[in-house]
Amino acid sequence: MTDKTFTTTQTGTPVASDAHSLTAGGPDGTTALHDRYLVEKLASFNRERVPERNPHAKGGGAFGEFVVTEDVSQYTRAAVFQPGATSETLIRFSSVAGEQGSPDTWRDVRGFSLRFYTTEGNLDIVGNNTPTFFLRDGMKFPDFIHSQKRLLGSGLRDADMQWDFWTLSPESAHQVTYLMGDRGISRSWRHVNGYGSHTYQWVNAAGERFWVKYHFLSQQGVVPMFADEAERIAGQDADYYRRDLYEAIERGEFPSWDVYVQVMPYEEAKTYRFNPFDLTKTWSKKDYPRIKVGTFTLNRNPQNFFAEIEQAAFSPGNQVPGTGISPDKMLMARVFSYPDAQRYRIGTNYNQLPVNQPHAATVSNYMHEGNMQYHFNTAEHRVYTPNSYGAAGGPEADPARGVEASWESDGALIRSAATLHSEDDDFGQARTLINEVFSAEERQRFIETLVGQYNGLTVPAIQERFFWYWGQVDQQVADEVRALAGLPIAQAEPVGIGE
Ligand code: HEM
Repeated sequence: MTDKTFTTTQTGTPVASDAHSLTAGGPDGTTALHDRYLVEKLASFNRERVPERNPHAKGGGAFGEFVVTEDVSQYTRAAVFQPGATSETLIRFSSVAGEQGSPDTWRDVRGFSLRFYTTEGNLDIVGNNTPTFFLRDGMKFPDFIHSQKRLLGSGLRDADMQWDFWTLSPESAHQVTYLMGDRGISRSWRHVNGYGSHTYQWVNAAGERFWVKYHFLSQQGVVPMFADEAERIAGQDADYYRRDLYEAIERGEFPSWDVYVQVMPYEEAKTYRFNPFDLTKTWSKKDYPRIKVGTFTLNRNPQNFFAEIEQAAFSPGNQVPGTGISPDKMLMARVFSYPDAQRYRIGTNYNQLPVNQPHAATVSNYMHEGNMQYHFNTAEHRVYTPNSYGAAGGPEADPARGVEASWESDGALIRSAATLHSEDDDFGQARTLINEVFSAEERQRFIETLVGQYNGLTVPAIQERFFWYWGQVDQQVADEVRALAGLPIAQAEPVGIGE
């Protein structure tokens, strides 16, 4: 902000002291209200905090570069994904439930927010280190986050509340299996994969549409941290992951991720055995193998954590021509939710901040004014469109450039669960994850984690429903948890199951 060696007010005037207030009546006198610098300094301090993100409050991030090494132009016309293209990137890793100061190594899903500063505007893929999610309708999201945060009276987090919600929302089983498995606590942020999780759309130069899922595979490997070490570190260094990333980059050890996509031809969405817009499901890699796109590397720490990471405003709605969203109900809710949160959290003109404005494209439209406007159009620019002043009057939308994702939508306006496809249920993919993906050691640690979770429950109905839920996933798992928890093996009846 300044290279001066002397202190000034916020408007650049040199100040007489960093330490002494102006007092009337000598050294022991009364503080003068017209000590403009004292008042300005205290007032600025009182306004330092902005609301933390709700959720994903605790995080850290860095800048880097993305290089396209392959040719996926048959699937997308987006400039950022054309052969040889390079783009500046920003990433922010986070935990979901904990507040700003919460320990990094608490068990949680990790946020994986990726921004590409492209020549066609910013593209944000705001995902997690898991390919699925707990829910399939945005209507339930605030309830879910409430259940992971704190009780009204005690202000404490509460295992009963978490498991009450999960077991009453059986669609959560697949993601809860990831969370209770090794993905729930990682060695560091450098050792997580990222996933766009949702199905997105790509459009190629000929206008053909494809459904895609993004996978970001860590070149450092996916390495877990076991629960006992994580608990110890949580008490010793709450910022363990943030420190690890920052220090690795300072040392010149730049972490990298390979970018892959699974591509589904547009028409196959109708008949695929799982509803491809259901975020609680993955697409089998046998059905849709991963196709490599390129690699990104993080090579630059932020200069200022608050300005560049805390004020970073990612949104799944930030798409570019050739990429877009899909009819996933969660994703459509998110497109509204993020900019709304950011207008509240940061302010009306948050996209004008250096970290949020496009770095490789320019902004051109008729929106203006509002709180903290920084960029402005000059006098010859009109304040409305259409206008008769040609190029001097301002921009005109160009449909050839503004290629949007699209899909066919016909039928009544209703509230209902999404259509089930032939193999859709709440528990099948969780069962596959445990029995076909987890190694024997991973499965054993998963069982032990569930025993620990069970031991945190105090409400009998929730304890019973816990076993019903895992019994639906896999009766053998439920029985092993019961046995390890010292309980008799018994079939539990569902208690108060929701939809
Ligand atoms: C309808 C469902 C969802 C809603 C309404 C929602 C809402 C939000 C909101 C309001 C924020 C804070 C944004 C900010 O203040 O900048 C946030 C952060 C975040 N959410 Fe979601 N979310 C949803 C689902 C998801 C899903 C499915 C994922 C991952 C696949 C996800 C990943 C993230 C991440 C990574 C962040 C942190 C962004 C950052 O690093 O700044 N969310 N979410």
